[in-house]
Parts: sequence; C-alpha cells; structure tokens
Amino acid sequence: MMKSKETRRSFLWKIAGMSSAVAFTPFLKLKAGVGPGKSPMILCSRGRDWGEKVLYPGWDILDKGGNVLDAVEKSTNVAELDPEDLSVGYGGLPNEQGVVELDASVMYGPTHQCGSVASLRHIKTPSSVARKVMERTDHIMLVGKGALNFALAHGYEKANLLTDRSRELWLKWRERLSDKDDWLPATDPDDAVEKKRSTGTINVLGMDANGDIAGITSTSGLAYKIPGRIGDSPIIGAGLYLDNSVGAAGATGRGEEVIRTCGSFLVVELMRQGYSPQRACEMACERIIKINGGVENIKRLRYNDKYVAFNVDGDVGCASILGSTPKLSYLNPEGFHVYEGKVLVD
Ligand code: GLY
Repeated sequence: MMKSKETRRSFLWKIAGMSSAVAFTPFLKLKAGVGPGKSPMILCSRGRDWGEKVLYPGWDILDKGGNVLDAVEKSTNVAELDPEDLSVGYGGLPNEQGVVELDASVMYGPTHQCGSVASLRHIKTPSSVARKVMERTDHIMLVGKGALNFALAHGYEKANLLTDRSRELWLKWRERLSDKDDWLPATDPDDAVEKKRSTGTINVLGMDANGDIAGITSTSGLAYKIPGRIGDSPIIGAGLYLDNSVGAAGATGRGEEVIRTCGSFLVVELMRQGYSPQRACEMACERIIKINGGVENIKRLRYNDKYVAFNVDGDVGCASILGSTPKLSYLNPEGFHVYEGKVLVD
C-alpha cells in the first residue's frame, strides 16, 4: 500500500484539487485508461424504499459532475443518520451491554486508497470518520477509543447513539436471554419473543462519468455482539473492495463468513477474470456454502450473507445464501432501478 510521505502528499493534493476542479469541469478525466464516456451510477445494497431515500442525495452530486467519493458518503450518511435504520449508525442495535459500536470502511478507486473505523462509539457517521482516516492519516484502520479520539479531534460531535427503540429491543433480548439470571421480561402475552440477532449493513458503491469508482460499507454490526467484536464491514477486502479498472463489491450479513473468504475481494477478482457481477456474487456465496460443509449445513446454520457488485461497464449483480430474493437499487442517467438477484439455497 502507499504510505510514503511523498505519495501521501500527492494523494491529498489530488483529493483537495479534485473537489474544486470537478465542480467546474463535470467530466474532467482524472485517470488514464478509464472514461470519459462512462455512465455514472450509484448503487446501494437495498431495495426500493431505502434506495429511494438514500441514493438521490448522492446522485445529485454525481449528476452535477461532483466527486464520486462525496456522492457515496452523502448517500451513506442518510442511512447512518436515520434512527429508523436499526443496523447502521445512529439508532443501530447495540452490543450485549447496550452500547452502540459502529464499523465502516471507504475505498477510492483512482488512488486505491482506503480507510476504516471499527468499534467506534458515540459518532453518528462512521463512514465520514473512515474517510478522514483515509485522507488525513498515514494509517488505514482505527478502532475503539483511538477512533473516537481521532473523530473528536476532527470536530465530530459526541452523541448518544442508542435510541429508545433500540434500547427497548436490546432490553427484550437481554431479558429473554436466559432463565438463569435476574433479568425478567415484562409479562405481556402479546410481546413477541425477541431472540433474533440481526446483521444489517449498507453498501453504497458509485462510479462517475470518468469511470472513477468509490465505495462505502457501514454497519452497527451483529446485534447484541460481544463488546469489541468487529465484523467484515470495516475490513478492506471483506465487507468492501473495489478496483478502478474492474468494479466494486460489498457484503452484508454474517461478517465472520465474509472475512474468512475475503468475500468482496473475491467478487472483484472474479469480475477481473471476466465473470459478470451476478455470477461473481453467486460464486462468492458458493464459497461460503462450501467452507461450511455444503447446503445442508448452511440451512442449519442459517448464514444470511449477501453480495452486491457492479463492473466498469455498469452491469450489476447480487446474490445471497438464504431467505428472500436479494435486491439492490441503483440510479444512473436512465433513472432509478431495482434489481433482483439470486438466492442460492431454498
Ligand atoms: N456484516 C456486518 C457484520 O457482520 O458486522
């Protein structure tokens, strides 16, 4: 990876110069070998409802010829700041002690730079802090207190991320966790048993008219996790990977399986070999099924991983292991699209 002072300086220069340059020259060619003439697009790993909410703010930036990194950050921030989303940013479900810990990563194609934060508490927009790690340090990943101190140094506001709704869901989970402790549930017969531990995440991937790519993955991770548990989302190559000459991929679902298969890296490398984004996502899911001993084991384990991807031609794909048909949504000059991928195991 880069990280000599010399290269870092030229990288910062490029980023700083780019925002203003692109603002005045919408289709400025920034990198040899790709575009101009590519169809800009922005994609997220969710269907229509969240797609419409999240993608338009980022698309506005791309449509005006803005920086693709600004676009994916803007879109991701929408989900991070929305307390209705129980799996990302503010309002995300907490760890087993009732504390929200967030993970996020960012990657920028033209320079192949990346940044990430993990187990970050108190900051509503971890993807923006990950971008600061990428742009304002010689490191790639900051965790825990170090990540929080870094965010505070950059002026991010310290907030309580636990909304009443998330706290109440956590409380129900805690009270029903065991009949051998002193935590007792309310005696409401209509109260649904809440033992499910979800992993929700958002991937936002974009490409500008020059063919330059950026991506973000952001999550509050596995609900009620052991404090300090880090999933795939902040790990470059696992929850997020891209290559400016190939395309981009992101993962959601059980992070442990994505980490041990280097999932998003695998998807991008399969696309480099010529596989379509759709087939590459399926093959990455098949790898998880294989390392877990096959379909019958996966049905028992209920691993719910999903990949989304696009290539530099603007083709998209998504696949998941179990459950309902996986969806992604994207915006390009033709408009808003919902794409239905393939679920591998019935
Ligand atoms: N994919 C999110 C997580 O496992 O943390």
